[in-house]
Amino acid sequence: MNEILEYLILQSLKRFSISFSGKTSLWGCTRFSAPLPWVFELMDFRSFFCCTSRSDRKEKAKKQSTWRIFSLKELHAATNNFNYDNKLGEGGFGSVYWGQLWDGSQIAVKRLKVFSNKAEMEFAVEVEILARVRHKNLLSLRGYCAEGQERLIVYDYMPNLSLLSHLHGQHSSESLLDWSRRMTIAIGSAEGIVYLHNQATPHIIHRDVKASNVLLDSEFKAQVADFGFAKLIPDGATHVTTRVKGTLGYLAPEYAMLGKASESCDVYSFGILLLEIASGKKPIEKVNATTRRSITEWALPLVCEGKFSEIVDAKLKGEYVEQELKRVVVVGLICAHNQPEKRPTMIEVVELLKGEMKEKFVEIENDEMFRCGEARGCSDGVSFAADDSLDFVSEEKEGVEEIEKVVA
Ligand SMILES: Nc1ncnc2c1ncn2[C@@H]1O[C@H](COP(=O)(O)OP(=O)(O)OP(=O)(O)O)[C@@H](O)[C@H]1O
Ligand SMILES: [Mg+2]
Repeated sequence: MNEILEYLILQSLKRFSISFSGKTSLWGCTRFSAPLPWVFELMDFRSFFCCTSRSDRKEKAKKQSTWRIFSLKELHAATNNFNYDNKLGEGGFGSVYWGQLWDGSQIAVKRLKVFSNKAEMEFAVEVEILARVRHKNLLSLRGYCAEGQERLIVYDYMPNLSLLSHLHGQHSSESLLDWSRRMTIAIGSAEGIVYLHNQATPHIIHRDVKASNVLLDSEFKAQVADFGFAKLIPDGATHVTTRVKGTLGYLAPEYAMLGKASESCDVYSFGILLLEIASGKKPIEKVNATTRRSITEWALPLVCEGKFSEIVDAKLKGEYVEQELKRVVVVGLICAHNQPEKRPTMIEVVELLKGEMKEKFVEIENDEMFRCGEARGCSDGVSFAADDSLDFVSEEKEGVEEIEKVVA
């Protein structure tokens, strides 16, 4: 009975979305013109049905009732008028500010920097997806504000900021990430992505998995953030050909070159993240004035020679679990294989990281990729490394936004 109800709600919402946008459905997310509060009420209702098992619904309903619409006035007051001192950082399409609400709770407010149809679309994509996902390792939406030209998203503030800030940024000198925390973060963020790929309905590709999008709560538990670039994959489609968006250094070659987004692109990015967690190195490093080297290019020869101790982050001062380090690095490299079919699924990644797939791990270790002298499988990284920063990529390829259904 519940399944039928869920199906009917989804179908009617799909029809509704198509009719109000005029151009493309909300599922395609190319236009978003209905009054947001009304749409959100519907989305909230639908997400209540489509993302959790029945046993979780009570808990979920309790959680969901905590998200709401904020007024601009309230967010101005909370962030001291978006004061520069409150700024946590700036990303591809907005700045993020720390704030405190009247009840004392701390929030992070993402404020879109440009209001345009495109920004409006990104906003709609992010809030729609965030409103529907609930998982212990995914940063959930606390609310939003859409007044005049302003579009803001409100999240819980993550007191330990991002993984990036601990690996390479403002907190890196404090060495707060011991090995056990790194393992918990690696497994937790993998579980968050498993949820997106396998449990969310329809399945979701994140498309911007990277260290700044892994936030850390007060206990250093991973909360994967930023679904603004994600796409919903309709059932039956195995990949989506779309605009290339993401961050250099984390982009799977087939995605960067051909725009083929699939779950395995997230696996690739996650592989880079694993290598970063283990080594403390950036995805792309400057070797000299003219050459950049990708983290896979650097790590692969060392793995082939069994020199794991040269890979591990020196900040750990030798305090790590050898077997776990080996798992993280080997799994990271196979995830970042050039050929998507060689990459494991995120479900396998979780099991491999936990040491639960011993046979599969041995199989991976014996992959030709890890044979000395014939190491191949990882991209050279040179073509993506045109400048110092890990640039945000937003390459518009009008006319290629289409869904390729693969006929079974
Ligand atoms: N809920 C939060 N709590 C604490 N810090 C946050 C929160 N959300 C974002 N930040 C921090 O704010 C900064 C800007 O985030 P933002 O998501 O805008 O940019 P980004 O992650 O660098 O790039 P992208 O736009 O590709 O996601 C990042 O350093 C991020 O870690
Ligand atoms: Mg981000």
